[in-house]
Amino acid sequence: MAVKKVLIIGGTGRLGLVLSRVLKENGYEAISIGSNKLNLQDENVQTELMKYSPDYIVHAAALSSVDRCEREPDLAYSINGYGTEKVSLAAKRMNVLLLYISTDYVFDGENPPYSENDKANPLSVYGKSKLLGEQFAREICSSVILRVSWLFGPEGNDFVDFVAHGEGTLRVVPYQVSKPTYTVDLSYAIMKIIQKKATGIYHFANPPTVSRLDWVRTILMVSGKDRKIRRVDWEELGVDAERPLDSSLSASKYEREFGKIPSWREGLRECLNA
Ligand SMILES: NC(=O)c1ccc[n+]([C@@H]2O[C@H](COP(=O)([O-])OP(=O)(O)OC[C@H]3O[C@@H](n4cnc5c(N)ncnc54)[C@H](OP(=O)(O)O)[C@@H]3O)[C@@H](O)[C@H]2O)c1
Repeated sequence: MAVKKVLIIGGTGRLGLVLSRVLKENGYEAISIGSNKLNLQDENVQTELMKYSPDYIVHAAALSSVDRCEREPDLAYSINGYGTEKVSLAAKRMNVLLLYISTDYVFDGENPPYSENDKANPLSVYGKSKLLGEQFAREICSSVILRVSWLFGPEGNDFVDFVAHGEGTLRVVPYQVSKPTYTVDLSYAIMKIIQKKATGIYHFANPPTVSRLDWVRTILMVSGKDRKIRRVDWEELGVDAERPLDSSLSASKYEREFGKIPSWREGLRECLNA
């Protein structure tokens, strides 16, 4: 049976909002829920989810602030880990596929680029709690784990927005490396995965790999913004959680099955109307 009704948990987030729009534009019935409709910390998650009787669930909800997760580990595990256990149990009971959005931060950054078979070794509570979520999704129900990195897109409130629309000197840790992921391209990728009813682990990120410093320089150039850059280390930036130095994801498995992923440069221009 073809998938028609897609429930998006985390539908009020940066990715969820774009995904909902893309699915609706392509003929799906997309139902978006944020934490006001369903709190993953509640006991009744399973029964609440069953009321929507979806054909497919996309779980894009998370405590996504890496530093907040480090400061509040119980909250991080409760939402990202055990919240995903509840969602997985509901998917199993309804016999529907679950697509769980995960992260490049499940890797330690020592041996990039990372393929789907590489061993995870998260450095932070965020990464550990997301990996726990992955384990529940894999063990409990039929699922897709889709790992993505450095999200940016038209909904703003992200790193691109911060660089392009903020003021003052930017403090940048120059040596961190990864691949930005454009939420519009990601949403089309999710749609293809839904259509194919694929299962297993996939990595999705826009090429090429870029350092944080070059990512900032390119955002400033494309947006026509003039801001000074000061290179700092993690300590001076004052972060709570350790980040992988190079968590670049290899998306070759996705590209072999679903087609080439465009460069993040195109997404960035589209996003900044440049
Ligand atoms: N942002 C990145 O750079 C990045 C990188 C790699 C992977 N990811 C992953 O990509 C996914 C989407 O990230 P995003 O940036 O779109 O996140 P986001 O903008 O922070 O949105 C998070 C979503 O989760 C919901 N949520 C938070 N706590 C919840 C709770 N207790 N119960 C139910 N829902 C809750 C929020 O609902 P309300 O807004 O209604 O509270 C919101 O819809 C996440 O799984 C994240 O781990 C993100």
